[in-house]
Amino acid sequence: MTLIDDLNQIAQAAQADLDQEGVDLEQVRVAYLGKKGKITQVLKSMKDLSVDEKKAVGQVGNQVREAIQTSLDEKKEAQAAAALNAKLAAETIDVTLPGTKPKLGNRHVLQQIMDEIEGHFLGLGYQVIDDPVDSPEVETDEYNFERENLPKDHPARDMQDTFYITPEILLRTQTSPVQSRALEKHDFSKGPLKMIAPGKVYRRDTDDATHSHQFHQVEGLVVGKNITMADLKGTLLSIMQELFGEKHQIRLRPSYFPFTEPSVEVDVSWDEVTEDTKPEDIRWIEVLGAGMTHPNVLKMDGVDPEEYSAFAFGLGPDRFAMLKYGVEDIRQFYLNDVRFLDQFNKRGN
Ligand code: PHE
Repeated sequence: MTLIDDLNQIAQAAQADLDQEGVDLEQVRVAYLGKKGKITQVLKSMKDLSVDEKKAVGQVGNQVREAIQTSLDEKKEAQAAAALNAKLAAETIDVTLPGTKPKLGNRHVLQQIMDEIEGHFLGLGYQVIDDPVDSPEVETDEYNFERENLPKDHPARDMQDTFYITPEILLRTQTSPVQSRALEKHDFSKGPLKMIAPGKVYRRDTDDATHSHQFHQVEGLVVGKNITMADLKGTLLSIMQELFGEKHQIRLRPSYFPFTEPSVEVDVSWDEVTEDTKPEDIRWIEVLGAGMTHPNVLKMDGVDPEEYSAFAFGLGPDRFAMLKYGVEDIRQFYLNDVRFLDQFNKRGN
């Protein structure tokens, strides 16, 4: 057996090892090509050979070495590709499986009503004032009361006791102060002022089924030339029919507010009213206060009551929501119980 035969046998053995399933390539490399590997061993034993023989064996040794190295490289690539394919197969996503549906929130029922009111008045060309600069919840006594024709000793203040921060600063009891803030800024050369102001108000009431120390109002004010009570009535009828339905009617009753003269309380019919309905059969429910703005209020806000007239109204979205949805306790709106709020989820998820 010549050394050349030995080398050829080594080449075959190496190939057989490499063909084995799951072979450890590094182990094969060390065993055959390493410093103490099989090829080195053969080459070491040629010291007694002639120069020509050494040359011939050396050549075959190099060929075998290269052949094994090439096979090793190929195997290495094949193993890497197989590993990648296995990984890809394991991570396959089945896009046809049903997904998990995220639970989406929805607008609070009071917000839904206020959005409906806003949408209606935007359609009538009103501006909506609800930013904290022009419609602050922390108000001065001057804007909340005095500018609304309620001087410090006025008895009507008793009905709107509130949370004072200092004797001159308080949580607003009504959205009416936004009227004065808007009027002060309005430029009448650009036309009449038509605004609504939706927002939170506060009163020092003891909470019960019909009272909450925090509730909502939507203030309305129109100031221009020749504004009359007929404009007020038409406007209120349009918003009530928007909210309760076109067949509902309204009724105005005389009332008192210090900042309007005359003042009215407005009722809406509980049921639809048709030509056949007898007036005495209509059930009325009170929904808001309104009136023609008092000349004193216009004067205090720098508007000449001889030239301009105005109407104002204040709606209560909490009360609307109670009537519309049959909610018997106003506190439900503020408890944030999802079981209650979910009933008004229009998305239905
Ligand atoms: N601000 C009044 C209230 O809170 C409601 C109102 C507003 C009445 C505007 C008339 C005009 O009771």
